[in-house]
Amino acid sequence: MSDDKEYAIELEKVSKEYPPHGKAGAVSALRDVTVHLRAGTSIAIRGDSGSGKTTLLNLLGGMDSASQGRVVVGGWDLGHLSEPDLCEYRATKVGFVFQTFNLLPELTALENVELPMEAVRTGRSERTARATRLLESVGMGERTRHRPGRLSGGEQQRVAIARALANDPDVILADEPTGNLDQRSRNVVLRLLQTVREKYGTTIVIVTHDPSVAASCEKEYRIKKGNLRWVADHAPVVTSSADDDEEDDDEPSPDDGDRSDR
Ligand SMILES: Nc1ncnc2c1ncn2[C@@H]1O[C@H](COP(=O)(O)OP(=O)(O)O)[C@@H](O)[C@H]1O
Ligand SMILES: [Mg+2]
Repeated sequence: MSDDKEYAIELEKVSKEYPPHGKAGAVSALRDVTVHLRAGTSIAIRGDSGSGKTTLLNLLGGMDSASQGRVVVGGWDLGHLSEPDLCEYRATKVGFVFQTFNLLPELTALENVELPMEAVRTGRSERTARATRLLESVGMGERTRHRPGRLSGGEQQRVAIARALANDPDVILADEPTGNLDQRSRNVVLRLLQTVREKYGTTIVIVTHDPSVAASCEKEYRIKKGNLRWVADHAPVVTSSADDDEEDDDEPSPDDGDRSDR
C-alpha cells in the first residue's frame, strides 16, 4: 500500500508493449500515460478501436502488468503485489462491466450477483440479502430469479452493474458498457453508473468510442495510439430527473416491450 490516499487512481508514465508474436511485430499499446484521479470521479476515455482502451482497463484491473511506470489504485501499487494480494485486489477493489455483459447463462440474476461474494467466502444469507438489495437498487428487484436469456440487454447490463458492486469496490471499470444497447437502455445504464458514483463514492472509468457517453462523465479523456490526454470537464449529471421517459425502466414489469436490444 502507498501512503498517498488522495487519489483513487494514479498512473505514472505507464507504458505497455506487447512482445512480437509469430508474424506480428511488437505493439506499443500505451505510451507514457500519466493521470491522477480523485476518489468518486467519473471519467470517460474515448478512443478508436485499437487505441489502447482495453489495455488500460486491464492494467487498472490488475489483469495485466505495465511494461514501464507505476499503476496505483486505491493505494495499492499493482506492480508490487504478491499473487494472493493481486487476487484479493481483483476480487474486492475493482468491479468490471463489459460490453457483452458476461453474465453466466445458467445462473439466475441473483446467483450471478452472489458469485463474487461467494469467491470471497461471504456467508450464504448475507450474500443473498446483499445481492437482493443490489438488484433492487438497479431496478431489477422483480427479476432476481430470471436467467440472463430472459432479460433484455439493458436489463442484463443492470444485473452486471449489481454484480460489479457485489464486494463494494473502490473503482468500477467499464469497457464499452453501452456498446450493445439501444439509446434508451444506454441512457438508463449511464445514469445508473452516475448514481453509483454519487451514492457510494465509487470512481467510475468508462472506455468508449461513443462521444455521447463521454458527456455523462465528469472528465473526458481521449486516447490515440496509446497516448492519453485530457479533453474536457463536464458538469456532473443530475441523476434524479423526474421528467424523463425512462422512468418505467426502474420498475420493469415482465411484459414491458423493451426487448429490442437483447
Ligand atoms: N494480448 C495482446 N497481444 C498483442 N497485441 C495486443 C494484445 N491486446 C491488444 N493488442 C494490441 O494493442 C493495441 C491496443 O489494443 P486494445 O487495448 O485492445 O485497444 P482498444 O480496446 O482501444 O480497441 C492494438 O494494436 C491491439 O492489436
Ligand atoms: Mg477494447
